[in-house]
This record gives sequence, C-alpha cells and structure tokens, in this order.
Amino acid sequence: MATMVDVARSAGVSVATVSHVLNDTRPVLPHTRQAVLDAIDRLGYTPNTLARSLVTSRTHSIGLAVSAISNPYFTEILQGVEAAALEHGYSLLIADPHDDPAHERKVVQLLHERRVDGMIVAPSPDPRELLAYLGRHEVPAVFLDRLIGFEASDTSVPRHDQICAESAEPTTRLVTHLTDLGHRRIALIAGLPGLSTTRERIAGYRHGLAAAGLPYDERLLVHGDSEAAGAERATDALLSLAVPPTAMVTANNAMTIGTLRALRERGLSVPEDIALCCFDDFAWADLFTPRLTAIAQPSKEIGAQAVRLLLDRLAAPDRPARTVRLSCSFVHRTSCGCPERPAQSDPSDPPEKGTDS
Ligand code: HPA
Repeated sequence: MATMVDVARSAGVSVATVSHVLNDTRPVLPHTRQAVLDAIDRLGYTPNTLARSLVTSRTHSIGLAVSAISNPYFTEILQGVEAAALEHGYSLLIADPHDDPAHERKVVQLLHERRVDGMIVAPSPDPRELLAYLGRHEVPAVFLDRLIGFEASDTSVPRHDQICAESAEPTTRLVTHLTDLGHRRIALIAGLPGLSTTRERIAGYRHGLAAAGLPYDERLLVHGDSEAAGAERATDALLSLAVPPTAMVTANNAMTIGTLRALRERGLSVPEDIALCCFDDFAWADLFTPRLTAIAQPSKEIGAQAVRLLLDRLAAPDRPARTVRLSCSFVHRTSCGCPERPAQSDPSDPPEKGTDS
C-alpha cells in the first residue's frame, strides 16, 4: 500500500506539503498541488484515517444506536442521519439496542470503544445506565424520538440535546377527527410504557376525548407495546369488551399492522365495522383498502437535525442543551370513514378543522 512518503517522493515535494493538499490546511501552489494529486492517482494512495485519528483524536465518525431498525420510521431516520453525516464528512457506526437497557449499555460502550466523536441514541424505556455511562465518559450525545432528562419538578429545563416529533397534539387531532365524525367510544392502542412518545400520545388521546366532552374510560386504553403482536392481542381484548369501541387509534405503524391483522381474523372491515386512524404514515399506507388516515412524522428531518445538534455540540461543548420539536402532518384518507376525496395538490396539507369530514 502506498504511503504519504511514497506520494511525497513521487511528486518531488515534502510530506508536509502532501498533508496540506490532503487536509486543506495551508494554500499550496496550483502546479505543486496538481503534482501531488497526480502522484496520489498514479500510486493509488488512500489516506489512512486511523493514523490521522491518532494525531487529531477525532475519528469523524458518529455512533447511531436505534432500536427496531427494520421499522420504516427508524429506517427513514437512519437515512436522514446518514445523508447529513456524509454531507459533513462523517461516517456512521450503527447498533441496535433492542429497547433493552442492558443491551443498550453494551452497544453504547462498544461504539465508545471505537472512539466515535459523538452518539445519536433513541433511548430505551429505562435509560439510567445509558445516561450514567455517557456522563461518566463525557461522550457527546444527542437523543432522538424519546425525550429524557426533563426533571420531574421542572419540565422546561432539558439537560440533553434531543429531538423528536410532536406526539400529543397530532394524537388529539386523530381523536378529534373521529369525534367530529360522531364516534363516542374511541380506543387507543398505546405503545411501550416508559417511552415519552407513549406518555404524550396517551395525553393527546385523553385531551381529544375531553375536548369533545367525552369521559375517559380506562378499558378503552390498551398497551400494544409498540409492536404488531402486542397490538394484535390488545385489539382482541378491546373487541371482547361487552361494549366494544366503534373507532380505534393506533399509536405507531407496527401496531397498525397488528390491529389490522386482529380485525381481519374476526372478519371485521374498516371503516364499516370499526373506524381506524393511525400514528405514522408509511409507504404502503395508501395501498391498504381502505387507505389509512394517518399522522406523518418528519422522520428524515429528525435524523438530519440530530446530526446538526451533535455537530453543534462538538463545536461548542458548553452551550446550553436544546430540545427540538418538529411538527407532524395529518394525511386524510378513508380508514376514518370519510369518503374518497379528489386528489389535493399537496396531500400532506391538513384540511381545515371542521371541513375534514
Ligand atoms: N417512536 C415514535 N414513533 C414511532 C416509533 C417510536 O418508537 N415506532 C414507530 N413509530
């Protein structure tokens, strides 16, 4: 393998000049620069970033730890992270903590041992060990999707950089859409307990019921644990109630699949027998019959902004922590029970309240 010394010898310049050309650290005369580039080309030289890292103690890599990488929501986040990292000259190391605190702690340590410059983590429901590890080793980190670090006594002072989409208000919007359509028994299939997204979507659900003057019936709130199998069981339990719901809200894409499966098993059709509104839009959501009325999260943007937050943190370690919240959009289709509407110029434009039924 050709080295920098070989390149310098072949181009007739010093090793320092080769370094300046490679790293843009000092202006180099155009013809000297060209001689170096030609030598690099001729010898097939590729820089050894490991060697450079030993000198700079920076690896220009980011560790990304997100559970359920196969979930399209997280896959899109990953795409956003990857594109933004590449744009800024960073590569990615990826790990899946499986939403399990012990596994999370282990993968974060592995990423740290690879000396990533910082980490982006979607924390598990119990991130205490994760936080202790990151704090002890002073690893710059940005959290995404699930908020942590809000003191119970003071919800306005975040201790960590974090980014997520709004969860409460969009869930309220789904519930309000259903109450506007006349539903009085609306169930929520909620996510994994302990996640901020689960708490906030439950709060949004309850707010939507209260806004319509409906009582909260705890039998209509069931946990699908953010997975299809859990939602299938939860939906079954709801349908076995003496008075089952007439409409359901599923709190993520995986649970929507489980709920649809349970409804099909019982031979129930949407929206004739039961109306359905979902958190999360995904590529096939408008291929189902009926097409799914859903909340779309700005997943790629969440990933891209997580990278920006981390790079800002690396550039200014002492800046105050920031929490960024992004808006979602209401994608109005037909699983809610509304008739098919002519195509809109911008399908993600939420219709005005009161006109969307
Ligand atoms: N959080 C938020 N939205 C989601 C998730 C999650 O864990 N999974 C699918 N959509």
